[in-house]
Amino acid sequence: MKKVQITETVLRDANQSLMATRLPYADYEAILPEMDKAGYYSVECWGGATFDSCLRYLNEDPWERLRGIRKHMPNTRLQMLLRGQNLLGYKHYHDDVVEKFVELSIKNGIDIIRIFDALNDFRNLGTALDATMKYATPKTIASGCISYTQSPVHTVEKYIEMCKELKKMGFKTICLKDMAGTMSPYEAENLIKGIKDAVGDMPLILHTHCTTGMAYMTVTKAIESGVDVIDCATSCFSNGTSQPATETMFYALQQYGIETGLNEDVINKVNDYFKPIKQKYIDSGRINPKSMATDAQALVYKVPGGMLSNMIANLTDMHAMDKFEAALEEIPVVRKDLGYPPLVTPLSQMVGNQAVTNVLLGERYKQISKEVKNYFRGEYGIAPAPVSQELQDKILGEGGKPIDCRIEDAKRTGEEFKAAKEALGDLARSEEDVMSYICFPDQAMKFFEARKAKEENICKYTIEEA
Ligand code: CO
Repeated sequence: MKKVQITETVLRDANQSLMATRLPYADYEAILPEMDKAGYYSVECWGGATFDSCLRYLNEDPWERLRGIRKHMPNTRLQMLLRGQNLLGYKHYHDDVVEKFVELSIKNGIDIIRIFDALNDFRNLGTALDATMKYATPKTIASGCISYTQSPVHTVEKYIEMCKELKKMGFKTICLKDMAGTMSPYEAENLIKGIKDAVGDMPLILHTHCTTGMAYMTVTKAIESGVDVIDCATSCFSNGTSQPATETMFYALQQYGIETGLNEDVINKVNDYFKPIKQKYIDSGRINPKSMATDAQALVYKVPGGMLSNMIANLTDMHAMDKFEAALEEIPVVRKDLGYPPLVTPLSQMVGNQAVTNVLLGERYKQISKEVKNYFRGEYGIAPAPVSQELQDKILGEGGKPIDCRIEDAKRTGEEFKAAKEALGDLARSEEDVMSYICFPDQAMKFFEARKAKEENICKYTIEEA
């Protein structure tokens, strides 16, 4: 029987997409043992914004959260998302820091590390991949992930080349990450058939979002075309800007005679558990009804929904909404000059803001943002296509060349970890603490200080009581 497995995203991407990653561990700890019996391919539970949100808003130690999930789900593969050399943020970290982060992630319970780069500059995946292989347990899987986008240079052939490259590098699986939900069923069919022909022996995973309303059609076509795993969210946390619903896909696939390996009773129990939690956050306003709706605007304008709302907010602030159409027309121009980067954070903001600036000032690149300058300096990696020579000369000077970010990363190895350890002093209790500080210094420091103060209070209280 044909088999297609399902990754459950409620703890990470659904949580991030629908409620800005504010779901505390305490809300879902009780359902973890049940989830462990569901038969998911994996549970995506960590990485990206979960880490930041734990420290910044939830007063939780992200590592402790991971250990908790591991303890209650001993049998399910736990999965995280890692932005290659950027780890969880937007700057490049040194190679030794990336290696240490991966080592600790595996040690604390992660089985699958899905590694991507915003520009698909795969050199930025190398260190994380090597570290994953170095610290691998028999359950560890390094998954190479492609940021999916549409542009004149992002052809099926180009994606097939990328997959071949990921295979050559040593990844065990490949994931197509359609973060904007703009992959159509037609595109999914062509892509997945092409990729399966080229690297058929490698499991292929599709990650998409329901944002534009196409996801169910797209994953269905993807399954018909040979995809092995799809990302879904328990139904009360599905749809809108989140993933397609787990139970719905289970039901539909069953009728096709496709085995998912899921236990129907368990996945229904999981959804029953999360229903009142969802309601609680709708009532509190944390879940915005807008994030639960379908918005096909991204298909009309060919830019992700988040980027559109960001532009509308900026233009409204500047009382310049009359320039909206002009700014939209400027986006493809800026994107071409930048060598067609995928419109994913931070590139989407970079391209959007520069387009708005160009239009507002009535002259192209009269003012160039710091981020765009850094991009041309090579700090993010290599663009998918050649950048505008004219703009590069303007930023780097005639004949100026961008730096090689990988050489820069390697050069400074060793400094970052040491500096963080010194800055923390006795506030750090573990290597995990040091890593939290390196990733999110201000939030981690605040968290550690609060932790220390709390312990001192408890200690004082106990002595007085005694
Ligand atoms: Co996503």
